[in-house]
Amino acid sequence: MQRPLNQGHIWLKEIIKSDDLVIDATMGNGNDTCFLARLGARVTAFDVQEAAVIKTQQRLIDANLSANLILDGHQNIQKYVQEPIQAAIFNLGYLPSSDKSVVTLAETTISALKQCLNLLAINGRIAIMIYYGHPGGQNEKNAVLEFVSQLAQENYQVYQYSALNQIHQPPFLIMIEKKRATTKLDN
Ligand SMILES: C[S@@+](CC[C@H](N)C(=O)[O-])C[C@H]1O[C@@H](n2cnc3c(N)ncnc32)[C@H](O)[C@@H]1O
Repeated sequence: MQRPLNQGHIWLKEIIKSDDLVIDATMGNGNDTCFLARLGARVTAFDVQEAAVIKTQQRLIDANLSANLILDGHQNIQKYVQEPIQAAIFNLGYLPSSDKSVVTLAETTISALKQCLNLLAINGRIAIMIYYGHPGGQNEKNAVLEFVSQLAQENYQVYQYSALNQIHQPPFLIMIEKKRATTKLDN
């Protein structure tokens, strides 16, 4: 069986074609950015830490890949992306190798999710990996679960994929797929 992050990649890969526009909302060390770029997608990736942009740029160069890297918060996605997107990925929490006090936060994460849902093409998907063992993580987890749970079922499919027998707070995956055109969400 797949771990949640791998399963999220598999479900994204199923619907991403070469040249599709996709968003990595939390660039970090660039794993997801490189994964998406390898699929031939046009990737726009966001992070608030310069170290993340530098690391990701180097990883892209090493792998002979390219992506549009933006040093800004994902709450500002709509400033940079106006075209429809086929997919987005969020990897919440902090960057393990870096400043652990820089974490994603409920309010900005929900705003970014709404912006991605507004841009998402029909049959497009959003993967959200939730890490919540750090201070503030529980609050963000609850806010995201509450938000995605109230998305209208005629417009979106929303699934959770999580381990039920692991100790501590294992990360888990939420997948969203858009089923039909929707009215714009306020962010
Ligand atoms: C768990 S890490 C992401 C891991 C990454 N996807 C990878 O493949 O290595 C979370 C990242 O979110 C970033 N972050 C925190 N707040 C953010 C925000 N408002 N907008 C964009 N990125 C943010 C952190 O700086 C950190 O790099």
